[in-house]
Amino acid sequence: MAKSSAYVCRACGAEFSKWSGRCESCGAWNTIEEAQPLSEGPGKTLGTRRGSSLTLTDLASKEEAPPRTASGVDELDRVLGGGLVKASALLVGGDPGIGKSTLLLQAAARFARGGLKVLYVSGEESAGQIQMRAERLGLTESPVQLAAATSLRDIMTTLDAEAPDLAIIDSIQTMWLDTVESAPGSVSQVRAAAHELTSFAKRRGVSLVMVGHVTKEGTLAGPRVVEHMVDTVLYFEGERGHQFRLLRAHKNRFGPADEIGVFEMTGRGLIEVKNPSALFLSERGEAVPGSAVFAGIEGSRPILAEFQALVAPSATAQPRRSVLGWDGGRLAMILAVLESRCGVTFAGLDVYLNVAGGLRISDPAADLAVAGALMSAREDQPLPEQTVLFGEISLSGALRPVTQTENRLKEAGKLGFTRAILPQARKARGGDAGLQLTPMSDLPGFAAELFG
Ligand code: TYD
Ligand code: MG
Repeated sequence: MAKSSAYVCRACGAEFSKWSGRCESCGAWNTIEEAQPLSEGPGKTLGTRRGSSLTLTDLASKEEAPPRTASGVDELDRVLGGGLVKASALLVGGDPGIGKSTLLLQAAARFARGGLKVLYVSGEESAGQIQMRAERLGLTESPVQLAAATSLRDIMTTLDAEAPDLAIIDSIQTMWLDTVESAPGSVSQVRAAAHELTSFAKRRGVSLVMVGHVTKEGTLAGPRVVEHMVDTVLYFEGERGHQFRLLRAHKNRFGPADEIGVFEMTGRGLIEVKNPSALFLSERGEAVPGSAVFAGIEGSRPILAEFQALVAPSATAQPRRSVLGWDGGRLAMILAVLESRCGVTFAGLDVYLNVAGGLRISDPAADLAVAGALMSAREDQPLPEQTVLFGEISLSGALRPVTQTENRLKEAGKLGFTRAILPQARKARGGDAGLQLTPMSDLPGFAAELFG
């Protein structure tokens, strides 16, 4: 008897035993679709036929660390946790047009030059189109094998015959299996194709990279549907109007999960950004009201970023709270703390908050920089010149110490900042990088010191 079918949300990948109009997991409407069960597992179909017994290994026998191959693109290797792992499956998600194919073609060329046998399969472009892109990127000399195909049966046959070290599938939403009835891009097809490819990769020691477009609306299954099947999930992000692109590890079985790699999209492809702080602050002029420089940590490395706030009288009864590059819920919390602990009200005022350069900040230490930007905009008074801020704010208005104080200060010192406003803590070890430090224990104290 076949396994009964599952119902899967194409937005978040959650599985249910029955259909409903709204996904209980992510709250989206009309995203649940019936999905064919994955290839028949050990069910009754095996009957009484005997299998062969497995090779057992005990814990004491030393399994070596998974072999890794570095691409030589540091920004990529760091996010991977040192390089590509053999027999692993990697998913690279991102908005259409953000640069996933460009990134992977450039990476493929580097891996191929490093001696890996690389096969790049595109379901979106013809071989000629990929060659044109390679020409633009100056990669035509690289020994990467290209194929334009969407039939998974043909692709598996090719993978079987060619036995590459690295196979890139661009994108998983264009692939289809002839054993699955629904259309390419449907939850059933995407799941089945990803399942086939990952099991092949594990079995044959191939490093597999799959591209998944993030789908805002419409009927395509998003990359989240396959997240749980792969070892590593990277997201390639950025604002369309900006040239910066961030590669962020979302899940990583073989490395840290919060690393980022920074790239710049140019007319000749992506280039690595070795000093992102300088880039994210490059548009900054003189100190203006509403601007605050945050000394942050993303993954393992310090990044300075500028928060920009604008506060204006609201024309509506429901003032706007608009935020780009930061968490909207967190903004609401900071506004509430400012109001109830410092008596600074934003009632009747629209509030806009941006991170300059299209960066998205996830470090909780950004609270103080946000509060600084908001108050500075509200009071129409710039923050002190050449000053960085960081610190987490609690609901009581207290400033909590954060991690890696020395690294934050060092990065700020390197970029010419002379003063830091930070949470009061036990004496920072390792020095203050020559910065004048202004330790604060709570938000009311901060408000009084700067705007009192
Ligand atoms: P692409 O890699 O095709 O995006 P994705 O695979 O994520 O859909 O990138 C497409 C965009 O990148 C497109 O708008 C053109 C731009 N681009 C450059 O700016 N420079 C380049 O060298 C290349 C190849 C693309
Ligand atoms: Mg593409």
